Amino acid sequence: LIVILDFGSQYTHLIARRLRECNVYCELHHFNLPLSDIKELNPSGIVLSGGPASVYEEGSPHAAKGIFELGVPVLGICYGLQEMANALGGEVLPGEKKEYGHADIQTSNTYDLFDGIQSEFGVWMSHGDKLSLLPDGFCDIATTDNTEHAAVADVKRKLYGLQFHPEVTHTQFGTNILANFVTKICGCKCDWSMSDFLTEAKGAIRTMVGDGMVIGAVSGGVDSTVAAVLMKEAIGDQFHAFLVDNGVLRKNEATEVMERLASRCGVNLKLVDASEIFLQKLKGVTDPEKKRKIIGNTFIECFEKEASQLKANFLLQGTLYPDVIESTSHKGPSATIKTHHNVGGLPAHMKLKLIEPLRFLFKDEVRKLGLELGIESESIYRHPFPGPGLAIRILGEVTANRLKALREADKIFLEELRSAGLYRNIGQAFAALLPVKAVGVMGDKRTYEEVIVLRAVKTTDFMTADWFDLPTPLLRKISSRVVNEIRGVNRVTYDITSKPPGTIEWE
Ligand code: XMP
Repeated sequence: LIVILDFGSQYTHLIARRLRECNVYCELHHFNLPLSDIKELNPSGIVLSGGPASVYEEGSPHAAKGIFELGVPVLGICYGLQEMANALGGEVLPGEKKEYGHADIQTSNTYDLFDGIQSEFGVWMSHGDKLSLLPDGFCDIATTDNTEHAAVADVKRKLYGLQFHPEVTHTQFGTNILANFVTKICGCKCDWSMSDFLTEAKGAIRTMVGDGMVIGAVSGGVDSTVAAVLMKEAIGDQFHAFLVDNGVLRKNEATEVMERLASRCGVNLKLVDASEIFLQKLKGVTDPEKKRKIIGNTFIECFEKEASQLKANFLLQGTLYPDVIESTSHKGPSATIKTHHNVGGLPAHMKLKLIEPLRFLFKDEVRKLGLELGIESESIYRHPFPGPGLAIRILGEVTANRLKALREADKIFLEELRSAGLYRNIGQAFAALLPVKAVGVMGDKRTYEEVIVLRAVKTTDFMTADWFDLPTPLLRKISSRVVNEIRGVNRVTYDITSKPPGTIEWE
């Protein structure tokens, strides 16, 4: 295990990614993880991430005292290097020139960290401060024109520091440097695999839960599906799952999720049909944020009612690594664009401890774990579906007729994408119903009906996205099916907006 301490860099998660690519298991923790916890984790190495602060400023983040005396190899990156130097008696000052972007580095490749790597290569820098005095025992192992101490080492104590960022792809041989650190300096074997993770996760869940009871909500999405099957494998019927039908799910969604999870995977799953309650509360509501609030709150009420009948001590959450990163980094509050809802908002009086078995995994790793658990690939590669469901894809009021029309359009669109073999190339695809009517002509008669918009985007993280260039014949076929097969729709449009400035959903 390699422990990464996060000092708030926007690249910290990339360190984790690169190390996992080397088949080394790593965990990301807050910068001030207590020394006793570090000792308990018994890591083979520690990486200190970069961060936006200055080590000499009051209130700047610092690692636990004694971390450099544990005898565990440490690699400090950018702020991490400065933190290490500062703690060990070196000196960090504001640089005369700030250094952002490309720099050419000269290394002394007699050191393990640069083993097998040419002595001159391009690196990516992003720092204002720099090391002005090395701590005792350290020497330079790389320099650039502007940075004398671009990489430093105290080989005896196995302490290393890099002023540049090996985790970003703009640094040549960055992954090789990290691989050298974990193999040659920390002695890791690089044999970690998803099946190891599965075995460890099951053991950890059993220890944590004991003879207690866990409840959780599933939506049919990848994360909650994988988390639920993992719980079932670990603790069998001590896990109770609910699927709340909120009336704004896709066509046949509830039945299909029941079939997949309960019948095929054996998860102890109960279908709670609350569709009438949700639809009643959504009547007359057109504001997107109000829709989200109603659905979020009603969901909590339903969940609470079900949970109160069981004596559960734990709540399962499908939290993934990127969510953990968001909450451990000390980024400033960002403006609320949309209030995404999930089960995190359960009332405190329920006194449930959280259990988050996926919190150290990235999305693609969750998919691998799902395959390891034997979940079929159709569930594993599903596009995300928002908690407030079709309610935020029906612009304007959610009515039974509009829901019916959208469900059909959505079904046709996804069916066609699948049969064209494009579904997996797309990050997310869906249909939405616009809050306008359009004039058309059908069988010589004037029509005045609803408009469907199709949206398909390419994205890696859903933070930014580009519209997907669907083949024209396919668009033609979908359009024709939608207007011919769905009553009340006379027009189909295709959304060609990227994110930003658009968002993926329309509301
Ligand atoms: P936006 O529309 O913000 O969407 O670009 C980014 C991703 O988040 C999903 N999304 C939601 N998911 N509750 C959710 O659980 C929500 O309220 C919500 N709003 C958007 C969206 O489908 C996309 O994957």
